[in-house]
Amino acid sequence: MKKLFAAFVIAALPAFAMGAASTYPLDKVDIDLTDKAAMQDGARTFANYCMGCHSAQYQRYERVADDLGIPHEIMLKNIAFTGAKIGDHMKIGMRPSDAKVWFGAAPPDLTLVARVRGTDWLYTYLRTFYEDPARPLGANNKVFPNVGMPNVLVGLQGRQYIGCKQVQVVEDGKKQFDPLTGTPITHEACDQLTVEATPGSLSTEEFDEKIQNLVTFLAYSANPVKLESQRIGTYVLLYLAFFFVFAYLLKREYWKDVH
Ligand code: HEC
Repeated sequence: MKKLFAAFVIAALPAFAMGAASTYPLDKVDIDLTDKAAMQDGARTFANYCMGCHSAQYQRYERVADDLGIPHEIMLKNIAFTGAKIGDHMKIGMRPSDAKVWFGAAPPDLTLVARVRGTDWLYTYLRTFYEDPARPLGANNKVFPNVGMPNVLVGLQGRQYIGCKQVQVVEDGKKQFDPLTGTPITHEACDQLTVEATPGSLSTEEFDEKIQNLVTFLAYSANPVKLESQRIGTYVLLYLAFFFVFAYLLKREYWKDVH
């Protein structure tokens, strides 16, 4: 019985490690690990908006620059920290113990976060910060309730509020329209997010694309060999196709005399 209990606790551990779980439905995001422009944009956003607090310390600037086609000088000037060398790991200056005092939790390293959380989770998390005066830093999050991270993207997204609003009725995955007038059929729903765009902030589509690029970069960072394995995979298939032709010709040659 004790053993069973221990097994149960171990099996349930990942659920606790994920912190306060949320049932908020995750938005799906397409990740294209061959889209270098997207990953470059994501790397820039990561450097400008995330590396103040989060490291990606299992990754070197040089490797990222080479994989994503960023010239080394540009990598050092625009993405790396002042004084960093191209061969350095992507570390940060903030001490975890300080961070814990400031935010109540230390910002975890993000090199592998896309593997731990999944890309849909990240895409939804980064787009669902909202104003919540009850929180110490004024913001809360839909998929990570009572998160310690401040809403660092508010300048890009605009302020997001939670409340009741009219939303279109969806049945069987289809948006419903009035058959006579063609206008959308709506009902009042609460607990809904609404962005109040401020001057200078991106449009919803632009912001979603920025985050998609950022998540694509994080997906690459969690699995840099994926790019390489895809490349090698292509060569292997080409080789096999090439080899097949010779094997086939050879087979015909050998069997010619047998028949
Ligand atoms: C001002 C500091 C700060 C900045 C800047 C910041 N974060 Fe955070 N972040 C935190 C803290 C603190 C936590 C830990 C929250 C907790 O555990 O309650 C966190 C947590 C996270 C998590 C959850 C990790 C996990 O698995 O638990 C992700 C993902 C994340 N941050 C991504 C980002 C990204 C992407 C950016 C850049 C757009 C960013 N953060 C910018 C402080 C920051």
